[in-house]
Amino acid sequence: FGQPYRYLGHTTSTQDELRRWAEEGAPEGAVVLAERQTAGRGRMGRPWVSAPGASLTFSLLLRPRVPVALLPLAVGVALREAVGLGGLKWPNDLLAPDGRKLAGILVEAKAGGPVPGVVVLGIGLNVLPPVPPAAAALSEFMPVNRADLLAGILEELENQYENLSKPERILEHWKKYSVTLGKEVSIRTPRGEMQGRALDLAEDGALVVESQGGTERIAAGDVSLIGR
Ligand code: BTN
Repeated sequence: FGQPYRYLGHTTSTQDELRRWAEEGAPEGAVVLAERQTAGRGRMGRPWVSAPGASLTFSLLLRPRVPVALLPLAVGVALREAVGLGGLKWPNDLLAPDGRKLAGILVEAKAGGPVPGVVVLGIGLNVLPPVPPAAAALSEFMPVNRADLLAGILEELENQYENLSKPERILEHWKKYSVTLGKEVSIRTPRGEMQGRALDLAEDGALVVESQGGTERIAAGDVSLIGR
């Protein structure tokens, strides 16, 4: 991964830039990296804001041949492995040891069932201050060289992408790095807000939550950890 690549001073969003390149035939593994995004986006319709040069902000093109249900978790595992510290909040935020957010992952797929034609995977990793409120910069915890860090992340992404054919490996690794399971959580889902205890991961990567209403599988949502 990382060949070919485009390195931009600024763009609206590396997601859009890479999607256009994909339509022109960019191969799997292509990467768009930008110092500054004027319309960076996050999960669930949120903006992604980072100061110019302070974050590692890039998108990677995948053309999967196997089902990708576990891809969001696999990418979280890759990021945690490459960075070497922190924990994963479901589905794939990387949190610093003190619970502040270090990185976010956005998986955008063109519809096509379990094996979409194209996946544009976006990663935003806070490397240096300044960072938004409630976020952390990796440099607070370790010395960082952005080029080495990017190379390490791309290598781990390649490893975990190969693991998509071994789902149990991905689930096992994710659970090892989880800071979500066993915790009381509040979850904003597309269907509303709920609270409960995060019990486990389902085999499709959904979060199994025990609440007053019984046990539910949450396929998509935004988790806040309660009483950390
Ligand atoms: C999240 O935490 O909600 C996901 C954030 C993903 C941000 C990255 S930065 C590179 C890529 N381009 C974007 O516009 N978003 C992703």
